[in-house]
Amino acid sequence: MSPRYAHVTGWGMAVPEKIITNQDLAKMVDTTDEWIVDRTGIRQRHVADEHQTTASLAVEAALRALIVASLRPSDLDLIIVSTSSPEHIFPATACLVQDRIGATKAGAFDLSAACTGFVYALTLASQAIKSGAIQNALVIGAETLSRLTDWKDRNTCILFGDGAGAFILQASEEPGGVLTSVMRSDGSGGDLLSLPAGGSRHPTTLQTVYDGLHYIQMNGREVFRFATRVMSQATREAVDAAQLTLADVQLIVPHQANQRIIEAAMRGLDIPMDRVMMNLERYGNTSTASIPIATCEAINQGRLKPGDNVVFVAFGAGLTWGSNLVKWSGPFPVRRKVSPRRFRWLARLRSWLARLRRHLEGLIWGRDRSI
Ligand code: ACO
Repeated sequence: MSPRYAHVTGWGMAVPEKIITNQDLAKMVDTTDEWIVDRTGIRQRHVADEHQTTASLAVEAALRALIVASLRPSDLDLIIVSTSSPEHIFPATACLVQDRIGATKAGAFDLSAACTGFVYALTLASQAIKSGAIQNALVIGAETLSRLTDWKDRNTCILFGDGAGAFILQASEEPGGVLTSVMRSDGSGGDLLSLPAGGSRHPTTLQTVYDGLHYIQMNGREVFRFATRVMSQATREAVDAAQLTLADVQLIVPHQANQRIIEAAMRGLDIPMDRVMMNLERYGNTSTASIPIATCEAINQGRLKPGDNVVFVAFGAGLTWGSNLVKWSGPFPVRRKVSPRRFRWLARLRSWLARLRRHLEGLIWGRDRSI
């Protein structure tokens, strides 16, 4: 079999309309705009309204990515939703997305690697394509961390924002796409960044709610130290594995956690900030959604073009960290009109018919049993 490559041929993002500024936060907790900008670089974040969820943002981003790639949902073989704020423990948010876009041939699962999740998901989807197992994949990073944030805790509520970003990956024999990937973890630091309750270790009880264990807990200082170290290390590893040098990389898209973390990591690599995509000022830390959102904006600003080498690099809870080196390609030259409105409408109809069929089968099965 001739070598296969996994190209990024579509991208899309979605963020809620509602914005919470630092000034708004200063009315809620003991903080100031100056402190937040100085320590993090963040000025505002988008926050989901009551009708928006991780899946609804993921679907918006996914449909936009499908349009860019000129691909139908039924062309997809795999959907990975990377998230730390899934709709439920199960079913997977990826299955909700599969149903709502009508990806009738796709396997779907969630991936939990916190803010590193999108890098992990890109790695797994590209490896599935390169192995010949699948042809087309949809990779989504989506979060509504606002639902897991204690809005009375100034240590954490200033950081996070909601949003989703999606990539379409497609197989080709043309060299390019996701060239190298690095995935690392160190569970000994799991307690530095966690959401302790609601799982099987601490099932939700009145006491866990009273103690606030259903909210994000973080040792910011320790996470900061860890992050600056691994961000530069992982960037270098992905570039070395591709037998390139940092000078061959046109753009770095780091996980948008904290401006000081990113600047320290890039200083360590001697990479000037004009080669680094930053947008955390407007979105805050959208966790696993931050890299695809920043990528969409980099493309819109003309900062990422076909033929460029781009590094995605992230760290997060787990602890986890990782990176990808991607030779950017853009959509394949197969133009076909795809209509997201139609996809949605058809998917809703198909889903309704499937439920109806299941209901009718249940009735018939029940009647047969009674005979
Ligand atoms: N406003 C004003 N003062 C504050 C605030 C605030 N919002 N938050 C903390 N402080 C105070 C602290 O109480 C502390 O006061 P003290 O010295 O009297 O105790 C002081 O400011 C300094 O606190 P530090 O924690 O040392 O502040 P630091 O400069 O480290 O900044 C921050 C804190 C922004 C959280 C930083 O540590 C950070 O960004 N860490 C990394 C966080 C991160 O990236 N998390 C990733 C999550 S990704 C995922 O996987 C979900």
